[in-house]
Amino acid sequence: HDLSSSRNFSESRGGNDGAAKLPAAAILGEPGSVDGAHQAPNNDFVPKCDIIGKDALSALHRAGSQQCRQEIANIVCQHQAGQLMPHALPQFCPQLGVSNPVQAVGELDNSLSNVENPVRVAFVLMVHGRAIRQLKRLIKAIYHRDHYYYIHVDKRSGYLHREVLKIAQQYPNIRATPWRMVTIWGGASLLKAYLRSMQDLLSMLDWKWDFFINLSATDFPTRTNDELVAFLSQQRDKNFLKSHGRENARFIKKQGLDRLFHECDNHMWRLGERSIPEGLEVSGGSDWFALTRRFVEYVINSQDDLVSGLKQFYSYALLPAESFFHTVLGNSHMCDSLVDNNLRVTNWNRKLGCKCQYKHIVDWCGCSPNDFKPQDLIRIQQLTRPTFFARKFESTVNQESIDILDTHLYGQYAPGTVAIKAYWESLFEQLDGVGALSDVALTAYTAFFRLGLKNLVTVQSNAEACKFEPVGYPLSVHLYFYDDRFQGYLVQQEVQAVGSKTRETLEMWAVPQTSLVLETNLKEFERLKNLEIGTEWDPKERIFRNFGGVIGPLSEPLAVQKWARGPNLTATIVWIDPALVVAASYDITVDVDAEYTQYKPPLQRPLRPGTWTVRVLKQWERVAEARFLVMPLTFKDKEPIRKEDSWLHAGPPSNLYLEQSFQQLSSVLKLPPQESALQEAQHKAQLVGPPLEAWVDSSIGTFWVTGDLCATETSSCAAVGPCSKTSWSSLSPDPKSELGPVKSDGRIR
Ligand code: UDX
Repeated sequence: HDLSSSRNFSESRGGNDGAAKLPAAAILGEPGSVDGAHQAPNNDFVPKCDIIGKDALSALHRAGSQQCRQEIANIVCQHQAGQLMPHALPQFCPQLGVSNPVQAVGELDNSLSNVENPVRVAFVLMVHGRAIRQLKRLIKAIYHRDHYYYIHVDKRSGYLHREVLKIAQQYPNIRATPWRMVTIWGGASLLKAYLRSMQDLLSMLDWKWDFFINLSATDFPTRTNDELVAFLSQQRDKNFLKSHGRENARFIKKQGLDRLFHECDNHMWRLGERSIPEGLEVSGGSDWFALTRRFVEYVINSQDDLVSGLKQFYSYALLPAESFFHTVLGNSHMCDSLVDNNLRVTNWNRKLGCKCQYKHIVDWCGCSPNDFKPQDLIRIQQLTRPTFFARKFESTVNQESIDILDTHLYGQYAPGTVAIKAYWESLFEQLDGVGALSDVALTAYTAFFRLGLKNLVTVQSNAEACKFEPVGYPLSVHLYFYDDRFQGYLVQQEVQAVGSKTRETLEMWAVPQTSLVLETNLKEFERLKNLEIGTEWDPKERIFRNFGGVIGPLSEPLAVQKWARGPNLTATIVWIDPALVVAASYDITVDVDAEYTQYKPPLQRPLRPGTWTVRVLKQWERVAEARFLVMPLTFKDKEPIRKEDSWLHAGPPSNLYLEQSFQQLSSVLKLPPQESALQEAQHKAQLVGPPLEAWVDSSIGTFWVTGDLCATETSSCAAVGPCSKTSWSSLSPDPKSELGPVKSDGRIR
């Protein structure tokens, strides 16, 4: 691959996080390596030409479906024949190249009362994920009866879509797009979805809007609706699009606009080079904008070569919405309406946000802004240009910053309002289908519930009415946060009273326990603040996205160390499995200002279930130790584990987790003799049915506290209270996220 992207790729290996010194085997999966040519080529597509380009061949090797390979082959051949991309395009901007048509905007006049004929805004919300409660807060904050809300939900986000449809039923000026696309990160589909939304909005004759503003579910307003309307009403002919502010040639290179991309199989494939059409100036920057109806009409309805040529050009572009509208506007007869301000504040922190985290989705190194934390909010005030929205916010990462903005805009909720600091996010619900759950998740959730029910019987010593059995799979699972700290899983499950046959639904709370031990008197290792093992590490937010840390034999866990500033040092990290097999050992060098070090040893799977230990060593002396559970599975392909599945619990072949054995380290690590641990592990690997469940339950019992239960209706067991009155329950009131009736001032917040 090209120099610029390879430089980015290599940056992702260490960054500021302190480079890990790795065993040779670890170098294999070079981040961003897109050659993949060691696989046999798939020749099930019919190329209409001789495909020679390196990128195109690589894409053909890697693409998963025949359909996608055929599309790639067709596109490359068309491109090689010079028939795909426009060679030259007109430009209609009289000022282009003469002076910069960018306009400054004066002081804000915030008061709506001075405004005649206030503008009406069509907000297009492009959303994905599961954070419905945050989306509701956003809608609550931007809602006004005079504006319009058109919501596209990524086709893969079924839960969010079902919830959005419920909202749309409540308010005439909120609608969901009747079509849905798989809008992958950076994909050509995002522009397609915007264009289609614009077309829909123009054809809705009952929605009389003047401005088009796009938002995502991770945006939040920084000024009130009235302020926005007052501002736009004074600028009603302006289009607000922010530019990168660098040299155009650099932007084009960095953005990959001189490369041909094609989206299929939910991936943006890089297929080779292309030239920028002659005759116009390509520009771009942010894909968050505010556009006039007049410009939207031009983009949608114009048949001129500028618009149709650029639509073609950007159908094969990475991050197309970051440049399409800029380029159309900048070269159109409307170019003088451009204001170089997208009215947003984006919380960029390139050091964290540019780690090639999307390389499995796009053949490029893209960047993402960071989530706002309270200390970042100052950035909103520091800007001199007018801004009305900020991004990004994620309540699972930090809800306090949303609270601060929300309060600043619309005042505090009444004293005594419940659940202000609580946050719930759905992880699973029955309508997703049990196929959406992994075997390890299903194992964990069902075990939590068994344990919860067992506790209930113990506590209620002889109450027959409190003996329940679970019926079927879990109904729903939520992540529960309080005061921006993860509090555990909430699992809803239908149960049946053992004596009678009556059924009821209970919700149960499972709280994870940490197990870190730090030695004292560590000298330079006083810097070590935390050691954690988990999966789905997010290098941008520096958290495990697998919040509960449920890990199974087929997971790929990663160890993270957190450091304060301090002297350079080298630490050794060792992983020990439940049968006392030394699975991995590696050194990490920690620079003065390293804050986090992390490494995922490429362990051979299945990992042996049971309690694992990770140690941080200073010259082979232990300075810290954390334990984590590799959960034995009670399900394989959502069916109870059978005898023939026992390989899943047997550890890797020959007890070898990496190419090299580290067993000779067991004496320096002062591990007890391995014999009995190994025997016990081999015995456990054979378990199925109730003994297997008992093993799972006792393992979970040491890493989780499964306690509280509540009932969705009145329970036959008097000790189980109603969920609606149980503050941790996902069914208890959450006023900040509830969308009520429209008030007399037109708002719902
Ligand atoms: C950054 C930039 O801020 C943004 O302008 C650019 O489009 C992508 O990179 P980032 O936070 O990385 O943003 O992207 P994100 O907000 O996650 O996604 C951009 C849009 O695509 C959102 O509207 C999002 O909802 C949508 N999207 C993203 C999906 O619909 N599905 C996905 O799987 C990913």
